[in-house]
Amino acid sequence: MDDREKRSADLERRREEARLGGGAERIAQQHERGKLTARERIDILLDDGSFQEVGMFVRHQVRDFGLADRRPYGDGVVTGFGTIDSRLVYVYSQDFTVFGGSLGLAHARKITRLMQLALENGAPIIGLNDSGGARIQEGVDSLGGYAEIFLLNTMASGVVPQLSAVLGPCAGGAVYSPAITDFVFMAKNTSYMFVTGPNVVKTVTQEEVTAEELGGARTHTEKSGVAHMACENEVECLHRIRDLFGFIPQNCEDSPPFVQTDDSPDRMDEALNDMVPEHPNKPYDMLEVIRGLVDERNFFEIHAGFAPNLLVGFARLGGRSIGVVANNPAALAGVLDMDASVKGARFVRFCDAFNIPLLVLEDVPGFMPGIDQEWGGIIRHGAKLLYAFCEATVPKITVITRKAYGGAYDVMNSKHIRGDLNFAWPTAEIAVMGPKGAVEIIYKRQLAEADDPATAEEDFIRQYRDTFANPYIAAGQGYIDDIILPAETRYRLVRGFDMLRNKVARNPRKKHGNIPL
Ligand code: HXC
Repeated sequence: MDDREKRSADLERRREEARLGGGAERIAQQHERGKLTARERIDILLDDGSFQEVGMFVRHQVRDFGLADRRPYGDGVVTGFGTIDSRLVYVYSQDFTVFGGSLGLAHARKITRLMQLALENGAPIIGLNDSGGARIQEGVDSLGGYAEIFLLNTMASGVVPQLSAVLGPCAGGAVYSPAITDFVFMAKNTSYMFVTGPNVVKTVTQEEVTAEELGGARTHTEKSGVAHMACENEVECLHRIRDLFGFIPQNCEDSPPFVQTDDSPDRMDEALNDMVPEHPNKPYDMLEVIRGLVDERNFFEIHAGFAPNLLVGFARLGGRSIGVVANNPAALAGVLDMDASVKGARFVRFCDAFNIPLLVLEDVPGFMPGIDQEWGGIIRHGAKLLYAFCEATVPKITVITRKAYGGAYDVMNSKHIRGDLNFAWPTAEIAVMGPKGAVEIIYKRQLAEADDPATAEEDFIRQYRDTFANPYIAAGQGYIDDIILPAETRYRLVRGFDMLRNKVARNPRKKHGNIPL
């Protein structure tokens, strides 16, 4: 072997060592737990053969706690870039087989270097998290490393899309970086997120809880709202991230990708004509309305398990991405409560930051009444959704399918807060409140004095309905741009968004707004 061959063999040996991470035994343990390795995850996430690693030979510089003899290549995180559907993306993938994926200074700097590259080159960053949190042996250096990541997450917010998959036990600091990013994906039964785990919880509050109950995928996608999608397993998680990619742009200056479709923009969906039931309080599934309208019935729902009374997600119309925000009468009559408001606000802000036009489908009886809601801050949370729609400058179209009552009428992208096109179906009812509540207030005296209060109330309700249970008063005022048949809605939306493609609208110059958090 000559010198050149020796150098080449030496490099290959070191590369092999780096690829093995914590070694064959730990890799086997990872597999036994139903988890993939950091590199296997990257292979599934990215286009075949596109991954280029950066920082393979980085090692920590710590000498204490016996770490001088344990300096694995890569320091527990694989970083680099590659493509999804031929579009550039930066990826870091924590390696649980090395120090439990814990984060020390070298590990953190690999991630922040990658984030800098993503920011400077305007491409999304995806973090695959599997980490025991701050590396205890590195003390304040690891805390500082986390803080540097949080800072860059914040700097990158609204500049490039940031996506996180949580694919293992993410404890302590490991949860806050994903929490700042735009979307968090989890895998059922193998992913956990908590600030403190079950043992600490038991010591401090005497509560007994399993890791899955405390911070598993279902908990965070249904109860806390911290995560946006609970997948059956890691492979599904990685595929879903690829799917999401198809709807979003590379950065805040870019447009989402155009995807050719065979679904004609002129398609009429007759089934939509029968979607809204005769009885005003009978539920129907707004998911079916969305599917009837969008290309190939393909709706990529976000946060499906959390606040199902408001649906949010991505779809395409005529090949172009839109963000859909829709009240769903099939859950809690489509009312706006605290969770729905926060869910909607965050989604609207993502779409606005990344040039994704918004479609609002509205059937909302108002904000949720109740002590829990008032004490929990429905005013503050509802204001978030209001604020988000008010500040959004992307093209915004609303279709009122049935109820648009009270403050919720204003909030759901009304004309008054810069809805570009506001349509209503003939079944729309636009009023300050529902008939019964309204009649009880404005005819209180007449009802008290009536010989037959029940019949009198019925009459007043009929009168009120005749006046307000239609979209023509609002259309007469110009608050509704047109009244359209359900079946023709897709056609009108495709043309509407097409007309708005070059929209330019700006908010006043400011350092930043002060959304009611
Ligand atoms: C150093 C760690 C580590 C850590 C795990 N390891 N967490 N090393 N720092 N934080 C190491 C273990 O020593 C072990 O190494 C290997 O990773 C695998 O860990 P196990 O415990 O054997 O695995 P498992 O049983 O699956 O449990 C995983 C775990 C548990 C749930 C993550 O290890 C754990 O609870 N770790 C501590 C979590 C934590 O409290 N982190 C600090 C949070 S404070 P060997 O060599 O023995 O195999 C924090 C502050 C940041 O993060 C604040 C910023 C806002």
